[in-house]
Parts: sequence; C-alpha cells; structure tokens
Amino acid sequence: MGDKGFGIDQNRLMEYAHEIKSVYDAGCQVAIVIGGGNIFRGIQAEKGGMDRVHGDYMGMLATVINSMAIQSALEGIGVQTRLQSAIKMEQICEPFIRRKAVRHLEKGRVVIFGAGSGNPYFTTDSAAALRAIEIEAQVILKGTRVDGIYTADPEKDKTATKYENLTFDEAYNKGLQIMDLTAFTLCKENNLPIIVFDMNKKNNLVNLVQGQKVGTLVKA
Ligand code: GTP
Repeated sequence: MGDKGFGIDQNRLMEYAHEIKSVYDAGCQVAIVIGGGNIFRGIQAEKGGMDRVHGDYMGMLATVINSMAIQSALEGIGVQTRLQSAIKMEQICEPFIRRKAVRHLEKGRVVIFGAGSGNPYFTTDSAAALRAIEIEAQVILKGTRVDGIYTADPEKDKTATKYENLTFDEAYNKGLQIMDLTAFTLCKENNLPIIVFDMNKKNNLVNLVQGQKVGTLVKA
C-alpha cells in the first residue's frame, strides 16, 4: 500500500522487487508469500457482518492480485518467476504443486505462492510457514514495518526495546506476537527459524542474507 490509503503503490512495489532481486542476484533461492490486506481484509469484513469464510476467500484472491503485481515487477527487472496459486485459476497461474515449485527454485526462478494455503481460517503467515516447510526452506524472513521483535509495540510504546535473538519457547512464554499461533507452531514444530525484519529499509534484505545482524532471529 505504501503511502497510498488503498491498493498498490507502484513505487513501493518496485522497491520490494529490487530488494528481492538483490538476494536473487546474490544466488539465493527465493520463494515469496505476500498478503492481501492492502486490498481486502477478511477479518475486518467479518466485523462488518460478512461471513468469515466468504471474507477469507476474498482475502486469498487479494493475495493473488498482489502476487501478480510482484511477479510483473520482478520480471520487469529481469528476474525469472513462476506464480503458483493454492486456488486453481489456470488462466492466470500454475496450480500449487510442491515438486514443481522446488524444481523452479532449482532452475533459478523466484517462486511466488498466491492464495494463501487455499483454506479459510488460515492467515498468510500460516501459508508462508506451511510453504516454507514444504519446500524445505532454511529460514522464513518476515518483512514488516518494524525492524524486529520488541518487548512491546514500538509504534505505541517508546520504552520498548528490541530482542536480537529469541528461542521459540521464550517468544511463546513472553506472549510476543510474531505470527499467529498456527504459523508460529508450524515453525517451532518443524524447527524453521524466523527472522523478523524491516522490509522498508533499503538493502535490509540483502544485508540480512549476507549475514549482517538485521532484525530478530527466532529459533529453537
Ligand atoms: P520447466 O519445464 O521446468 O522448464 O518449467 P516451465 O515453468 O518453464 O515449464 P512449463 O511448460 O510448465 O511452463 C511454461 C510457462 O507456462 C511458465 O510461465 C508457467 O508459469 C506457465 N504455466 C505452466 N502451467 C500453467 C498453468 O496451469 N496455468 C498458467 N496460467 N500458466 C502455466
């Protein structure tokens, strides 16, 4: 959404594409899961009286729009991509097929997973955790607006301090909101480290991947 109140901010989209290209150019295999809240939020729709399941499906479609946008932005700067959707829409993209996704990664393509997990009641974070485990990713990088995990919400509490590292148990016992519990549990049970970092800071992604101390690492 960037500086816009709604929809896709083209400048922010291109910034993200360049950030992703920098890690792709560094030789990393990259898969992307993107949310859809800039277009539609299922949970808010439910508060407005919409059926939860209906709203969740609309949210999944919103993630496909964002996935197509990031696909187009990446291909515009020379990054090969493949988009796979958890909900079949064969005119637009491939269906999610795990083995094909892994093959695409091996062939040097950035794989974008759209439509969440294809199921209502699961967040984009849960979809990201699930896909990361399925493709045997080494780490899940959660790009947000803050530069890591804090003792309290740094946007609300100025005294909040940042954690450099946390174990899954510490994060759980302190009740830190890193991802929803389903996503968090999937990562914990499958020993998949999470790094929470600021996606809006230039070169953060490539610095992180090259081993600099960026964000907060959560692991076993
Ligand atoms: P390799 O065979 O590993 O080289 O992969 P590939 O993705 O290049 O081969 P494929 O022939 O499967 O795909 C060619 C193009 O068609 C790619 O851009 C795919 O994303 C796209 N494609 C493949 N399957 C589908 C589909 O079901 N729907 C849509 N819309 N596009 C598809």
